Amino acid sequence: MHRRAAISKLCSALAGAVLAAPHALASPASPASADAGELVARARVLLAARHEALLNAFMMAWPEHPERRNLSPASVPVQRYLSAALELAPKWSRAFVAALRTESNELVWRRSYTPAQVGEIFFENYGYTEFLGTTGPIACEHLACGVLLLGPGVTYPLHSHEADELYLPLSGSALWRHGSDQWVLRHPGTLLHHPSGTPHAMQTGEEPLLALYLWRSDNLNQTSHLIEG
Ligand SMILES: [Fe+2]
Repeated sequence: MHRRAAISKLCSALAGAVLAAPHALASPASPASADAGELVARARVLLAARHEALLNAFMMAWPEHPERRNLSPASVPVQRYLSAALELAPKWSRAFVAALRTESNELVWRRSYTPAQVGEIFFENYGYTEFLGTTGPIACEHLACGVLLLGPGVTYPLHSHEADELYLPLSGSALWRHGSDQWVLRHPGTLLHHPSGTPHAMQTGEEPLLALYLWRSDNLNQTSHLIEG
């Protein structure tokens, strides 16, 4: 009886170990971090394929073996436009946008402003998720990478920040404004550079805008400042 009980106990222990294996064998990071890692790798490939000198300083700051953070997913209402963004995505960005939509609910979506600052309509139609950076699931001190998503018919007001910024629109044509220049219609694939402190704004029409962003700074723990008027 003792032997049978011992065998039974061993079998139970083995069954428990098998059930626990997927978690035990996975990286210490949560599934959300693993998915963000794939998006970071895909983003790097998309950016490198542009072969533009503007990218050099950003790409040189890309970490080779970043650490991961366990973060709880968070959602924002503007995610409802990810399907439309996928439908509108050109061929070169479609796989990335599809992966983003698939993993969307595992990511940490955020908003920098309050409804009092930007109004309820913008607040409900705006959000971003950082894959790589000081607050994202893939840790990096001096480079941030993520996506911004804007719903149709909204204006992201003129704002500025210390970080050097690059945008690569992935889906949706929108108006972009740089400094005191006129609004210009920009299409997916156009690299947009906002040097440190340069005011910039975006305005969507009938299409949502999904754009990859990069921030580069010695101190990424900063916020964007809305510019009055
Ligand atoms: Fe910006």
